[in-house]
Amino acid sequence: MASTFVPIPARLEQVIVETPTIRTFVLRPQQPIPFRAGQFVQLEAPGVGEAPFTPSSSPKEPERLEITVLRTGFVTEALHRLQPGATVGVRGPFGKGYPVQHFQGQQVLVIGGGVGLAPLRSLLYHLFDDLGQVARVSILYGARTPQELCFRRQHADWQQLAKVDFTATIDRPAPGWDGPVGLVTELVAKTDVDIARACAVSCGPEVMLRFVTWKLLDLGFPPERIFLSMNRNMSCGMGLCGRCNIGPHYLCKDGPDMCYAEIKDIPYALG
Ligand SMILES: Cc1cc2nc3c(=O)[nH]c(=O)nc-3n(C[C@H](O)[C@H](O)[C@H](O)COP(=O)(O)OP(=O)(O)OC[C@H]3O[C@@H](n4cnc5c(N)ncnc54)[C@H](O)[C@@H]3O)c2cc1C
Ligand code: FES
Repeated sequence: MASTFVPIPARLEQVIVETPTIRTFVLRPQQPIPFRAGQFVQLEAPGVGEAPFTPSSSPKEPERLEITVLRTGFVTEALHRLQPGATVGVRGPFGKGYPVQHFQGQQVLVIGGGVGLAPLRSLLYHLFDDLGQVARVSILYGARTPQELCFRRQHADWQQLAKVDFTATIDRPAPGWDGPVGLVTELVAKTDVDIARACAVSCGPEVMLRFVTWKLLDLGFPPERIFLSMNRNMSCGMGLCGRCNIGPHYLCKDGPDMCYAEIKDIPYALG
């Protein structure tokens, strides 16, 4: 069992370059770290610090974690400098994870932006493992440019799966890109899911979450069937430091994935 206080040492087995600013770190922890899709860990770059990340790998493989990291600041730059063979520290898992019990028999609309597809990938692996549990999985994904689309080598495989459809969009036209152009909200607006038996899960920048939520509400999604990954700054991961709260909720314990119905009346919940 992984510790919530003491990092478990993990060997960096492989570094996968996903985009110019996103890398996936394949880790072999000294002991398995069981997690549910959507739970997060604190990943420590030795001598630098730690930051929260949601594994992008399958919860069925607790002995081998993949963590996909956008280079954005102090800790993530240190992580991006690491080479295979290095040792990092992992604390956790923390949080509740995605409320997969709500997805039974539903059409699941999975909406990601940029590196936001990384936490969602653990959910996708969970759903793909038993597609009999859902009616359909529709993945809508947006990035600024084709080069910034994460997990690009997997998109075609996902499109081949029965009951799964995948659509990617980029913000502006780009040479060699013949797919949709525009924000991911435009894909949401065109979705043909049967809203009466659908739920939506979204992860991405806060501004994207806000506009996606408004679009889903416009389409008629009830707040009870919208789930948002609230990737706010975190520290302890255990409800102790108060760094992550919105209203009465500690996102590290009650989230990080929150049902919109629970946060819709909290000012600034979505920025
Ligand atoms: C539950 C959870 C899961 C996450 N999962 C992933 C993941 O799978 N992949 C991934 O790349 N990132 C993920 N993040 C975001 C990641 O934790 C931050 O990017 C990271 O903490 C930045 O650390 P840093 O020291 O490199 O940046 P800093 O030097 O601390 O900051 C650099 C910039 O990044 C901004 N920033 C810092 N933390 C966050 C944050 N949590 N969200 C948005 N902006 C932030 C700062 O405001 C600043 O502008 C997750 C965050 C949370 C809370
Ligand atoms: S991160 Fe400390 S209370 Fe949530």
